[in-house]
Amino acid sequence: MRRYSRVTGTGSYVPPRRLTNADLVAELAVKGVETSDDWIVERTGIRARYFVADGIYSSDLGLVACKNALQAAGLQATDIDLIIVATSTPDMVFPSTACILQNKLGANGGAAFDVQAVCSGFVYALTVADAMIRTGAANKALVVGAEVFSRLLDFTDRTTCVLFGDGAGAVVLEASDTPGILASDLHADGKYVGILCVPGHVSNGHVLGDPLLKMDGQAVFKLAVGVLEEAARATLAKAGKAEADIDWLIPHQANIRIMQSTAKKLKLPMDKVVVTVDQHGNTSAASIPLALDSAVRAGRIQPGQNLMLEGVGGGFTWGAVFLTM
Ligand code: ACO
Repeated sequence: MRRYSRVTGTGSYVPPRRLTNADLVAELAVKGVETSDDWIVERTGIRARYFVADGIYSSDLGLVACKNALQAAGLQATDIDLIIVATSTPDMVFPSTACILQNKLGANGGAAFDVQAVCSGFVYALTVADAMIRTGAANKALVVGAEVFSRLLDFTDRTTCVLFGDGAGAVVLEASDTPGILASDLHADGKYVGILCVPGHVSNGHVLGDPLLKMDGQAVFKLAVGVLEEAARATLAKAGKAEADIDWLIPHQANIRIMQSTAKKLKLPMDKVVVTVDQHGNTSAASIPLALDSAVRAGRIQPGQNLMLEGVGGGFTWGAVFLTM
């Protein structure tokens, strides 16, 4: 009998501090940075985002998301034998946020590691977990996207600081006789490192280089629109499916215009696209599992429906996963 992996529970969490565009505009004005609700909504679709308080880390956000996902799956933390955390904002340089999260969960003993593919991190992590489950290397996994991107933002740069937020999402992925994950397609092109990066690093007890986010928004936009269509088509081809088989498209939540353009290219109406960027902003690796969990808990996504998850981000990285819930 073939062995597959299947999502059996979803969970998410955002920190309590919610900033509407108006709140952020007011905070930035104090710093002499000019922006407006109209500009942010028109160019991005973002209306609000959540920021962590001091002393809260990606593992703390991931912990609540994982507890919610475990509850939905009817499992205990001790049932889990694999934790993969997709993050670009780890708690420490090392050990991995996955190890820290594993200990907070009380799921000690199984494999735990981080995946770093920026906003594509969740589809990368899900693909790795699926492969490990299919080969028998793991049976019950937590796949997590958790970020505190607010710590990477330059609040004097209006072209980036209005775009991002903090949060976490998680899924429980379990071995199953029936699919589950049907296909995935991952890519990277390192020649685009410079268009979206945080170039600083730790060296000899100091941070060398700039530890704040830098982005060429237009270059990212153009690349994102093209690769998201390609990845979706490649994944459908591998799964032996067509656009019409997609019940829900869950793209990385960076910008409503990128999502609209991707949906149009795939001939999908916007009511088949899960959109949470308006409420969360861009939460990088957390955005897809946050959107997924929101739609599951709202009763929009139903068991048996087909989902196309799509990530794109720094690296440049991109990819898609097609799965049946
Ligand atoms: N408020 C007001 N005005 C602003 C702001 C702001 N927050 N930011 C920029 N502007 C101004 C600019 O200064 C410029 O003014 P000018 O014409 O006088 O020079 C004008 O608005 C237009 O700027 P553009 O950069 O051309 O605006 P654009 O329409 O390209 O929108 C945006 C910018 C929203 C960043 C867009 O390019 C985008 O969404 N790109 C993709 C970003 C993305 O998806 N990033 C995430 C990838 S995932 C990851 O890995 C993190």
